[in-house]
Amino acid sequence: MYTLSVDTPSHQYPIYIGNNLLQKFELLQPHINQKVAIVSNTTVANLHLPTLENVLKNNGIEFFTVILPDGEQYKNHDSLNQIYDALLSHHADRKTTIIALGGGVIGDMAGFAAATYQRGVPFVQIPTTLLSQVDSSVGGKTAINHPLGKNMIGAFYQPQVVLIDLATLDTLPERELSAGMAEVIKYGLLGDIEFLQWLEDNMPALMQRDKTLLAEAVRHCCQMKADIVAQDETEQDVRALLNLGHTFGHAIETEMGYGVWLHGEAVAAGSVLACILSEQIGSLKPADTERVKAIFRAARLPDTPPKFAFERWLAHMRHDKKVQSGKMRFITLKQLGQATITTIEDEQPLRKTLAAYLSQ
Ligand code: NAD
Ligand code: GLY
Repeated sequence: MYTLSVDTPSHQYPIYIGNNLLQKFELLQPHINQKVAIVSNTTVANLHLPTLENVLKNNGIEFFTVILPDGEQYKNHDSLNQIYDALLSHHADRKTTIIALGGGVIGDMAGFAAATYQRGVPFVQIPTTLLSQVDSSVGGKTAINHPLGKNMIGAFYQPQVVLIDLATLDTLPERELSAGMAEVIKYGLLGDIEFLQWLEDNMPALMQRDKTLLAEAVRHCCQMKADIVAQDETEQDVRALLNLGHTFGHAIETEMGYGVWLHGEAVAAGSVLACILSEQIGSLKPADTERVKAIFRAARLPDTPPKFAFERWLAHMRHDKKVQSGKMRFITLKQLGQATITTIEDEQPLRKTLAAYLSQ
């Protein structure tokens, strides 16, 4: 088992990474109170909720469950209200711990419910997708979507602990494994060329779910994220680099309808666009972009975005949370393994970046 630490100004907490950790009550116990609300969805509840319920039952913890419908399209106010309804009807108080059991959608929503219910109750992340294990469960970003933009309503709110049970990945569908791999590759692209090379060398085995390699990939990504979040908890600066590919990616997700393109798929295509934009501003070569496309393809991810009108791309990207004083800011690459924040003042480089991906 690996133990990492996230040290933010607001809170310090551990990340545990290993196999069958869901059964290890001793890891959970110091971080939960006597009463617990488990938030999950219909899919994950069928697969992994009984294990958690048994552990809590056997150790005398009082709990109730909130089982939401499955899908990005349900990451909204209605689902959030279902969580609040359950918390109120079960008389949850400020000592009730909310446990998120699921992927990023459940983690983000349960986290936002925890941040806001009675102005904040303790919260635990048990991420069950590769994407949530390497990214969304760490660092305290919580949110729901708005019809006009992804993750537009949310809060920074750190969990008490992140418990990563790699055994839960055994039941993850192939397409979701790929989606998670997009965020894994993102870490290499934005800040660690050696990790990118390691991923290139090991991608076939990672996609075959080699346990040792997956554990190493999850550990590496969590450590990188913990280091970045420790420097900049509320994204004033360096944390924005974690958004590589996300400005284009969120535009894809919103335009296509939440859930049609998986978040990781949109991040993969969005990262390729970020590379092409980097070429436009002169910092990357076409051969670098080809290398990036190849690693996404090796992870069975899309390397091209869907086509839609330039005005639609712009409308979505203007909602991006990195926009400052009306100016759009993008994460670009100075070179592979080194990202930076670039303000794009005129539309020309964006038009050129998207030229091949515009509908007629
Ligand atoms: P998800 O939560 O929708 O999970 C993907 C699918 O896998 C769902 O159908 C889910 O039910 C299923 N699933 C989950 N665990 C499973 C398991 N062990 N076995 C079988 N099926 C399982 O999607 P995701 O990719 O985990 O997360 C994407 C979300 O995370 C997006 O909403 C994105 O905006 C958000 N996100 C947040 C952050 C952050 O910092 N908070 C970072 C990245 C992404
Ligand atoms: N996933 C981006 C962040 O946590 O900042």
